[in-house]
Formats: sequence, C-alpha cells, structure tokens
Amino acid sequence: MILIGNWKMAPDTSVQAINLAKKIDKISKKYKKNLKVLLAVPFIHTGVVAKSLKSSILTGQSISSSKVVASTGSISASMARSYGIKYCIVGHSESRARGEDDKSINNQIKNLLEKGIKPVLCVGEKERDTHGWYLSSVKEQIENALSGVQKNSLKLVTIAYEPVWAIGSNSIRVATPSECQEMIIFIKKVLSDIYGDKLSNTVPILYGGSVDEKNASDFIDLGRADGLLVGRVSLDADKFGEIAKSISK
Ligand code: PGA
Repeated sequence: MILIGNWKMAPDTSVQAINLAKKIDKISKKYKKNLKVLLAVPFIHTGVVAKSLKSSILTGQSISSSKVVASTGSISASMARSYGIKYCIVGHSESRARGEDDKSINNQIKNLLEKGIKPVLCVGEKERDTHGWYLSSVKEQIENALSGVQKNSLKLVTIAYEPVWAIGSNSIRVATPSECQEMIIFIKKVLSDIYGDKLSNTVPILYGGSVDEKNASDFIDLGRADGLLVGRVSLDADKFGEIAKSISK
C-alpha cells in the first residue's frame, strides 16, 4: 500500500518543511509494515527534508523533459537522484495546466527511468461526460506517457488516477469509490493491452483528489486502489496520520 503526500507549493519556509517532514516521518515509522509513505516535496526543500526522513521516501514533483544544460530554472533527473529522490510525480493536472504536455511527460518518464527514479504518472479526465469520452482521454494520456517505455521498466511505474474535477480547493466533489473502481479496472485494461496481463498487474494504481481522513479507506476497501495521493490534507500531519492509520489496517 502506497500513501503519497503531495505538498505542492508549500510550505513557505525550510523550517516549516523540516518540522512537517519530521512529524510525518514518525507516522511513516509507525505504519512501516503495511504502508510506504512517499513525500512529494518542492525541490527547493528536498535538501533539508532529506536529512529528516528515515522511514518516508523522498519524492520529487516534475523534472525537466530536456537533458540540455542550457535549461534555466529546470531540475534534471541526475540532480534529483543526487538528493536521494526515489520517486517523482509526473503529469500532475496542475503541471499540465501550466503547459506540461504529453511529449514532455513522456520525456520526463524516460529521463527518470534512465536514472533509476520511479515515475508516478498522474492521469485523469477534466470532466465526466455521459458518452464515455473521459475513458478515451485517460487511455490516450497513458499511451502517450508510456510510449517507448520498455516492458522491463514498467515495474518501476506507478499510476495515480486523479480526476481533475476532484482535485484541490476548487473541486466540484470527491469521486465515489465506484467511480474510482471503474477507472482502476479500466487503467489495468489499458496497461494490459500494451504490456500484457502479468506485467500490468505489477503497476500500483492509486487514487487522488480531495482525499481526507474520512473518505480515505473507502477508496481502498471499495474503490480497490493500491494507495492514495493526498494533496491539501498532507500538510496537516495529524490528519495525514489518520489517513495512514485507516488504510494500513
Ligand atoms: P487534493 O490534491 O488532495 O488537495 O485534492 C490532490 C493532488 O494534488 O493530487
């Protein structure tokens, strides 16, 4: 079971980041037997946070799609690796909204894999229409993101299903466990069409979007997710701890 805390563009100071990391690391230690806790930290905090983590796994938030040194303002996969980053979120809807496209996502995934960093690919539709177009948009995101990714690298990939309409403070509503389950089955099918049944079953599929301490376990027990990607609530160590407790049973 995987639990990712996505800190997004928070907290404001390195001191706050260290304190939050320490609190969450204690939680990770407590549930270590059944739960992998990943902390997706803004890159500027990764250096100080790395020193505070013993049980949680340092995770990045998007890297450069290019390998060219003349890329001012960007972070390479090699840099991320040198800070001990083991996983990296790619294709988050908030990054897509700022211009991250399928080609960039595909290149980022290849750059990460080349350096042994595990990509967490976020996919999700902008809206749920009644014709089922949302299914084809998610299929397309997966196919484009994994284009050229070889079979032997698939075991390093995690997918997070994050319906855009359910993410963040502007979300319309949280997904229902049955919407989550439907999509998880669908994503498995898309993967299995590309890589075959056996390999696609090794890919953890998580749910993300307005997860809190009250609804978390429903996505696991009823929604059949292999874990959760939590945004806002991951900045509150106590509530994040309750999520960890509820899904590590
Ligand atoms: P949220 O964010 O939990 O605040 O909706 C989810 C995410 O960033 O993936």
